Amino acid sequence: MQNFNWCNPTRVLFGKGSVKDLAEYLKADNIKSVLLIYGGKSVFKCGAYTQVTDMLNELGISFPELNDIKPNPRIDKVRDGIARVKLSKIDALMPIGGGSVFDTAKAISAGAFYNGDVWDIYQHKAKINKTVPIYGVVTASATASEVNAISVISNPEANIKTSFSDPHLYPKIAAVDPEFQFTLSEKQTVYGGVDIIAHALERLLDGDEGSEFMDDQGYALVRNMLRIIPELIDDPKNYDARAEYAWASQLAHNGILSCGRATRGDFSSHRLGHSISLLFDVAHGASLSVVMPAWARYLYKFNPVPFARLGENVFDIFDGSDEEKALATIEALEDFYRDINAPTTLRELNIKEDEIQQLADNASKSGALPFGTLKKLNQNDVLEIYKLAY
Ligand code: NZQ
Ligand code: ZN
Repeated sequence: MQNFNWCNPTRVLFGKGSVKDLAEYLKADNIKSVLLIYGGKSVFKCGAYTQVTDMLNELGISFPELNDIKPNPRIDKVRDGIARVKLSKIDALMPIGGGSVFDTAKAISAGAFYNGDVWDIYQHKAKINKTVPIYGVVTASATASEVNAISVISNPEANIKTSFSDPHLYPKIAAVDPEFQFTLSEKQTVYGGVDIIAHALERLLDGDEGSEFMDDQGYALVRNMLRIIPELIDDPKNYDARAEYAWASQLAHNGILSCGRATRGDFSSHRLGHSISLLFDVAHGASLSVVMPAWARYLYKFNPVPFARLGENVFDIFDGSDEEKALATIEALEDFYRDINAPTTLRELNIKEDEIQQLADNASKSGALPFGTLKKLNQNDVLEIYKLAY
């Protein structure tokens, strides 16, 4: 077990009716105006908008709005939001939505007290010292953005989708009412589920063999997600399954699974997935169900052990050598993705073979090279993985 320094300061208000519990904190913090940030119609459909605005009206808090945040959120909306915060008196940000809305709120929070362009921060050319506090309401669990310090933003001009992380970006409070998620489409439930599994797998498959206890937490999480996702496909209004899914999403990516590991995780699949999402406007989870098995197929012979242990602990694969178990594990993961109708090839995303090079070029330039921990990937490795994903 390695040393670590972990502090997750976000207060989580979890369960039915948790939006109204936000009131006492907003009052205690003397919040008089919030910028409500949301996407499209889902906030109205799921009931979150009404509950939040009723609560704000009761407290006499004003709430100008920034809406139409799209999945794979873009820097232009962030700039709009920053301009709004700089022009008017806004005490706090209140995202209502999933990862894209929270990531946008965090980017606005990061840029609100910076005099240059917010993209500088994502390019690590500027530091943030002061932010606008975030009191958020989750309507789509998956990314755990509501309880971590990460923000992922796309910049179409620079042709980069990238993440930025800073302790200032932890939301102050995240209210999670699983009932809001009854209206999520099957597709979004599946994609979110794939993302949650990926966040656990990226720790489990990072090549650190000294973290048995932490590995066990990850195996349990993945095993449960293999049960919960099909339960929700059958019954989208199953409260307990929605609640378990929501809590699993936070445990997968609030930082706790990285504690004690020699690496914080191997997030190569996320980097490869971001290029797919950026260039072909693909949902985050769909990019991961395609790229993660390809990444695994490319690497498992190099170090089959973590894949074999995953097979034993999650997929009941006990026969054969480590290498055989590793391959059977990757096949079992792909079978699961197919069972829940998640794509497993670039072809299913309508990406053409002659566009693979473009993907490889983009992923290679979106950060430092080489990258990854299980195996360090260079530009050629990246190309070969996308070829396998085809
Ligand atoms: O636009 P609306 O109408 O709101 O619809 C949304 C949107 O289409 C819909 N939705 C949300 N709540 C709903 C609902 N539909 C019905 N009922 C509800 N209750 O679902 C869609 C949500 O999209 P999005 O927010 O993009 O999904 P997700 O939460 O998967 O977020 C993905 C984004 O987060 C980034 C991804 O790269 C991607 O850009 N990530 C952020 C991370 C972080 N900050 O830690 C880590 C992740 O690995 C990830 O990279
Ligand atoms: Zn993710």
